Amino acid sequence: MAEVLRVGCIGCGQRAELYVEKIARQESPLLRMHGYADVRQANAERLLAEYGGRYATADPEQVLADPDIDAVLISTWHDTHTPYAVAAARHGKHILIEKPLALTIDECWQIEEAVRRAGVTVAVGLKMRFMPLVRRIRQWVPEPFLLTGQMMNDRVPDDSWSLQPGIGGGTVLGAGCHTADLLCYLAGADPVEVYACGSDRIHQMAGQIDTLVGTIKFANGAVAALVHGDPGRNPYTSTFFCQVFGLNQGACLYDRYHRAHLWGCAQPTLGIADLDEFERADVEGDLALLRHFALCAMARRPCEVGVREGRLATTLMVKLLESAARGLPMQVEADWRSHYG
Ligand SMILES: NC(=O)c1ccc[n+]([C@@H]2O[C@H](COP(=O)([O-])OP(=O)(O)OC[C@H]3O[C@@H](n4cnc5c(N)ncnc54)[C@H](O)[C@@H]3O)[C@@H](O)[C@H]2O)c1
Repeated sequence: MAEVLRVGCIGCGQRAELYVEKIARQESPLLRMHGYADVRQANAERLLAEYGGRYATADPEQVLADPDIDAVLISTWHDTHTPYAVAAARHGKHILIEKPLALTIDECWQIEEAVRRAGVTVAVGLKMRFMPLVRRIRQWVPEPFLLTGQMMNDRVPDDSWSLQPGIGGGTVLGAGCHTADLLCYLAGADPVEVYACGSDRIHQMAGQIDTLVGTIKFANGAVAALVHGDPGRNPYTSTFFCQVFGLNQGACLYDRYHRAHLWGCAQPTLGIADLDEFERADVEGDLALLRHFALCAMARRPCEVGVREGRLATTLMVKLLESAARGLPMQVEADWRSHYG
């Protein structure tokens, strides 16, 4: 077995740099940077100069076909996640892909099938479940019957690529999939039905819902509310806010999930100071996700936040948006491909 996985980075923007920097600093010693590709070659050149590796190119195909690359980091705009992930799988590369896995349910299935056929490992950048306080809360309330998850971002600029329908798919799908995955993780079950209302009040781009309030029913009977928008951050709750209610205990997470209040237990609050040294250095969960991916890829086993979890997060957001647009509840069949054709 190889001692390190040589990594090719496709899409060399802000998010990619966060991982590349950790890899270059050997915070995840199983990974080593090799090649960089970006349609804006200057972005690839910059990461190469800053963090080292063998080459930078404007042609992602060079990275995808490079026999010296074992794993790719796909951190491009959302419209290219599917073609790059499918091509990477066909070339036998392990894949760390940013969220959302893809913009449609059908594209998620295309990735899942390519990955299954190739037998490669995938991790999706749904990092919230790797945040140390989130993991503690899941242990503390293992069977919640009621959950809420909210993401209220600062306003995304109207000219951002993330708002362009064919490129970013809008903020609700692009960022809301974090909350969707978090709720699935904390509920401990697959979603079965959703209902939502929404509006285009913030950006007023006709037909694109930018504000959404949804409900989710899970297979184990738990129910959740998901709230998403970018009207500006609420200083009281922070951007991320989540509550889990068990019958005799519960928890409320806030301050980017760096702080929590608990009830029904001896310790009423949890914060960064309560974490161990390793967790304190990684409160956002990025390094834990990166290391988990490296270990799983090395052992050729599935990741905890793999292609199915990525598909479910996209499915939930697509169905919530569809429900809001049509004014109808929508069924969510977690593993029924034929329905989506
Ligand atoms: N997990 C998280 O918390 C988190 C946070 C921010 C962004 N993201 C995700 O990371 C991804 C990238 O976002 P970002 O903020 O880094 O954006 P960005 O614009 O800073 O970077 C994207 C890069 O991809 C390049 N690119 C675009 N299309 C390409 C193509 N077809 N081929 C090759 N390169 C291409 C762009 O030139 C740019 O350098 C998105 O999926 C986004 O949703 C995740």
